[in-house]
Amino acid sequence: MGVGMRPFYALHQGTKSVADQKTKILRGRLLTFSAAPQGPDDIDAYNFEEDGALLISDGKIEARGPFSKIKAEAPEGVAVTDHRPHLIVPGFIDTHIHFPQAQVIASWADQLLDWLNDYTFPAELKFANKAHGNRIAKAFFDAILSYGTTTAAAYCSSHPNSVDAYFEEAESRDMLMVGGKTMMDRNAPADLCDTAQGSYDDSKALLKKWHGRGRAHYAVTPRFAITSTPAQLEAAGALLKEHPDCHLQTHINENHNEISLTKELYPDAKDYLGVYEDFGLLGPKTLLGHCIHMNERELGVMKDTGSVAVFCPTSNLFLGSGLFDKARLENAGVRTAIATDVGGGTNYSMLRTLDEGYKILQMQRQRMHPLTCFYWATLGNAEALSLSDRIGTLEAGTDADLVVLDAKATPTMALRMETVETLSEELFVLQTLGDDRAIVETYVAGTASKVS
Ligand code: GUN
Ligand code: ZN
Repeated sequence: MGVGMRPFYALHQGTKSVADQKTKILRGRLLTFSAAPQGPDDIDAYNFEEDGALLISDGKIEARGPFSKIKAEAPEGVAVTDHRPHLIVPGFIDTHIHFPQAQVIASWADQLLDWLNDYTFPAELKFANKAHGNRIAKAFFDAILSYGTTTAAAYCSSHPNSVDAYFEEAESRDMLMVGGKTMMDRNAPADLCDTAQGSYDDSKALLKKWHGRGRAHYAVTPRFAITSTPAQLEAAGALLKEHPDCHLQTHINENHNEISLTKELYPDAKDYLGVYEDFGLLGPKTLLGHCIHMNERELGVMKDTGSVAVFCPTSNLFLGSGLFDKARLENAGVRTAIATDVGGGTNYSMLRTLDEGYKILQMQRQRMHPLTCFYWATLGNAEALSLSDRIGTLEAGTDADLVVLDAKATPTMALRMETVETLSEELFVLQTLGDDRAIVETYVAGTASKVS
């Protein structure tokens, strides 16, 4: 993971300094991962501290350890917030979501292509108006924080000002967010379509404005092969080549009709992934939403390029798309991530997402252990975004994006918790029964920000 404990003593050189306003201690039951758990007994993959603490200063975790040690070494008079008996884990990371679909979620639709035409494109058209984008951005960020998500990779609409609305709101909350203008120049309403050159120019200008400003990360975002001409995918590839530190996000192999239409539109491509491969869109910062109906060649190319397959369980069930085969992908050496995909997805909560993901994998006899689930929604997703040096962990030196969880948040949970004896059982209660009611607090860069 590459982030070691910062030498805490060096900060104070033996003499205790006096705490400033930006320094604080959070006390609670700490859980953080250092690797993907290989099974229930893989205690090397995580660290759990029953009475633990984080020393936070200037939005960063300065030190992690037993409360007694952290307190003894902290500056004089430092404020302590005691979250016991709740768990403190790294903030959840959502690796695929659509910010302009906040009013599309829960639309009674047929499968993917009808859903896009009947609900999604009409909703995204409204983002031509910046004021609408601003209003939805506020609601969107309030929503994800209330569910404990501190970082997301989002599609904005095709309108450049929707990207401004998104990153302005993220900046005002000091959140590490990934996002970009959706590039789409065909097979959609005219007012939602850009052009190959226009989408390149606008994306480049937005990238230059936002990428690396504060905590913002830009993602080159061609929607999917169906809504892009070859010229546009070529433009996306050129932009990515010029800015290889940016992410690229798109969709693939979600739905059978989508796959057939893609074959018609790109008859010379080897397969669906071959379309993106031909335009240089694949690599370790490429996030491919869905990856349900993958052939063997595609798996090999995913592995060779280090591209990430993003599992969107609530969306895949809601749109009847199919079952993500995690074991097949991972056995083929493909990197994976998990995400909500709101508004095709039906909940902003990564806890609800883990629950539905668990069930999809259970259908395929791939029962995920709760430790694996919590790893996935935190460090696993941070690794998928190539951001684990900053987020997804409680390691000293990383950003203090955290979530505080209460496994007894509802009467149903509290009753079930009466018989729980282990951390793993508690995590399983949280993911199976938990939602925003289980989020006690969400910290962004060390500041409490939950909207209640
Ligand atoms: N494929 C192309 N666009 C979309 C979208 O907005 N949501 C989902 N789930 N799939 C897509
Ligand atoms: Zn999507």
